[in-house]
Parts: sequence; structure tokens; C-alpha cells
Amino acid sequence: MPRHFLRDDDLSPAEQTEVLDLADRLKKDPLGTKALAGPKTIAVIFEKNSTRTRLSFEAGIAQLGGHAITVDGRSMQLGREETIEDTSRVLSRYADAVVWRTFAQARIEAMASVSTVPVINALTDDFHPCQVLADLQTIRERLGSLAGRTMTFLGDGANNMAHSLMLGGVTAGMHVKVAAPKGFDPAPAVLAAARRRAEETGGSVEVVGDPAAAVAGAEALVTDTWSSMGQENDGKDRVGPFRPYSIDAQLLAKAAPNAIVLHCLPAHRGWEITDEVIDGPASVVWDEAENRLHAQKALLCWLLAEERLR
Ligand code: CP
Ligand code: NVA
Repeated sequence: MPRHFLRDDDLSPAEQTEVLDLADRLKKDPLGTKALAGPKTIAVIFEKNSTRTRLSFEAGIAQLGGHAITVDGRSMQLGREETIEDTSRVLSRYADAVVWRTFAQARIEAMASVSTVPVINALTDDFHPCQVLADLQTIRERLGSLAGRTMTFLGDGANNMAHSLMLGGVTAGMHVKVAAPKGFDPAPAVLAAARRRAEETGGSVEVVGDPAAAVAGAEALVTDTWSSMGQENDGKDRVGPFRPYSIDAQLLAKAAPNAIVLHCLPAHRGWEITDEVIDGPASVVWDEAENRLHAQKALLCWLLAEERLR
């Protein structure tokens, strides 16, 4: 059975460290390995828009000597009622791995359930684990370590980023706080999974309503859009209740001295983050975007290369 990366806790704490260490090595020496030479072929499929994920996977696969086939999933037979499982059986005959951005987590689980090659989650409604590998790489390079550090996410506590930061953060032994307006709390099952993982690593996860209390002592603040792809017309007020959770200079001043600020991008400037903060000295968003490339290359090497390039 191949290993898949469908959510952040699919990697054990030790495995996550291996991938992050490899990402650091590849960042220092981007063309130092042709681990996907042959070439290994990766199907990279999108059912939602993407800039970073698409380009970083394509660039990274090319740098590793592999071949990416990038497809708009909306043009595939999937959109005409071919089942996910049948699609997966066929993809396994052509590709050495499948990278998929889709909607419900159940869809990518169905893809993985019959796949004979690794399936990688390039974002679902519930998780964005490739992004969080890059976030952890970025935090570690700025702060020097992850375990024991406090990271606060502000925004929609039930979205893919909040969930992945919780699972990925506690896997790294971090203390993760989620500050969300009422009605936008993390899914209870994800909270429970994060708490279980935290018991193993010494990390913790806490849902905090008050944004000022949530950022106190935090060395990394993270935010994301208040309205994720697919939620634009869900009938919820995704502005008013979120305003106090916007990262502006005043809120940033309440975090730990020298706290860093992350955003997976695309940013909605003036909403979840101000221009002053995203363009200011605390912001690490461009390094974070760059690290998508290194972290995903590391993940592909780890999943696919015969020797895991330790
Ligand atoms: N952060 C992120 O996944 O960006 P894209 O939607 O542009 O891929
Ligand atoms: N939560 C956002 C992340 C975009 C990269 C979304 O799903 O739209």
C-alpha cells in the first residue's frame, strides 16, 4: 500500500521532521537531486483555482527531473459522472503520484482508497497540509525551532488552514491557539485528533474567542481569508463577526516581541490583514510562499524516491 498525504497527521512527528529537514536541504541545493528522474510522472489536478500550489508543484517536479501533467479537473470525465474510484484506478496506471485539489475530504479519501500510487492533498475544504509543511519550515527557519513555541491562527476556525495548522502544529510539538468568531469553531473531530496528537508530542491546542488573549505570548500569528473557495455564497456573514480578528498593527503589538506573521495567500488586504502588517517587518509571507516549492519537493522525494534522501 502506498503512503498518502491527505491530512497533516498522516505524517508521524518523526516523519514530519524528516520532511522538513529535507526541505531545508533542498532549499540550500535546489538542483542537487534528480530524485524523480526517469522521469516519474505526477498528475496534478485542480478543481479549484490555484496560483502557488500549481506553479510550485510544476516547478518543483521539473527541478527533480520528473514530469508534471497539470489538468483542470473540471475538464475531466470526473465532471461527467465518472466515479472518483474509477478515475483513480486509471490514474494509477499512468502516474507515479496524484496531487489533487478538490472539495470535500471524502473525495480525496475515495481517490486514495483504490490508488496504487501516493495521493497528495493539494487543498480540500477541510485540510491544506502542503501549505502547513511550508509554514512550519518558515517558522522554524525564523525562530530556530518549533516544539514549545506558540502559534495563533485568527479567522475561520473551521477552514482548511485552521484545521491543518492545528494538526501540523501539534505534530511539531507547538502550542496552537485558534481565535475565531462564534459559529466558526474548528470541527470537533479535528480538535479531538489534534488533542490526541498533542499528548504524544507535548504540544497543545486551544480555541480562544478573544483575539487579544489569543495572540498574547504568540511568536507566530497566522491568518487566512474569511471566505474560502466554495463558501462565497454560503449565506453566512463572513465580514462583520470577523473584523476583530483582523491582523493589524495594534493586534500584532499584543503578540510576543518580534512575532512573525504568516498568510498562505491570496491575501485580502484590508480585511484579514492590513497593508501595514503584510508589507511590514514582521511579515514572512513571501518566504512562506517560496517554501511551498521546497517543502513539496521534499514531500515528493520522501514519498517516491527509493532512498528517502535522509
Ligand atoms: N496558498 C495557496 O495554496 O495558494 P494557491 O491557492 O494560489 O495555490
Ligand atoms: N482557505 C483558503 C485557502 C486558499 C489557499 C481557501 O480554501 O480558499
